[in-house]
Amino acid sequence: MIVNVRKASRADRQAVVDVIVAAFGDAEGRGIAELVTCLLEDPSAQPLLSLVATVNERVVGYVLYTKVRVEDSMRTVSASLLAPLAVRPEFQNSGIGGQLIKDGLKQLEKAGVDLVFVLGHPGYYPKYGFSPAGIRGLKVPYPMAPENSDAWMVQEIRPGVLGRVSGTVACADVLNDPKYWIE
Ligand SMILES: CC(C)(COP(=O)(O)OP(=O)(O)OC[C@H]1O[C@@H](n2cnc3c(N)ncnc32)[C@H](O)[C@@H]1OP(=O)(O)O)[C@@H](O)C(=O)NCCC(=O)NCCS
Repeated sequence: MIVNVRKASRADRQAVVDVIVAAFGDAEGRGIAELVTCLLEDPSAQPLLSLVATVNERVVGYVLYTKVRVEDSMRTVSASLLAPLAVRPEFQNSGIGGQLIKDGLKQLEKAGVDLVFVLGHPGYYPKYGFSPAGIRGLKVPYPMAPENSDAWMVQEIRPGVLGRVSGTVACADVLNDPKYWIE
């Protein structure tokens, strides 16, 4: 199976909604798809990186990286948030999610991004280089239950940044609501 990853265009919008709904299920997926539509229009999420994975030109996976800021840091860093990531169920476990993450990280590196954050499955993202962020002094935008703190993860793209910055991460305006930060 040949998988291609490319930047999403406006023409992909419906296909992206379909992938998200297929991956997350109807109820949750509709809300996440709407959130993505709003994030794509949110100036505070820019610069963002919106990627689709295709197989035979059919969109089967999607990832979005939006800009975040590390507040209170003594240093200025460029950071992004990975959310959401979705792969059609029938294409899962073939490395497509991983390819969307890795291609995204490469493009973000070229764009000068230092750190990438994610709130997600602590059994999944460490496969692709993420590790808990809270213990590195990088706090989630809204406090979480301590037992779920491993779900808030970070990966450095520019070596040497982790450990030198600390503070609370501030996300794009559209994501700035506690309901999005429950794990
Ligand atoms: C999570 C998701 C994006 C992974 O995509 P994928 O293309 O199947 O992922 P990959 O092929 O890169 O990786 C598959 C591996 O991750 C594991 N994995 C998948 N989901 C996982 C999870 N929630 N927790 C832990 N491991 C998980 C698989 O068991 C598989 O393990 P293996 O390599 O040891 O066999 C996909 O399952 C999905 O869309 N899920 C529904 C939406 C979702 O939960 N998105 C993430 C929100 S944080």
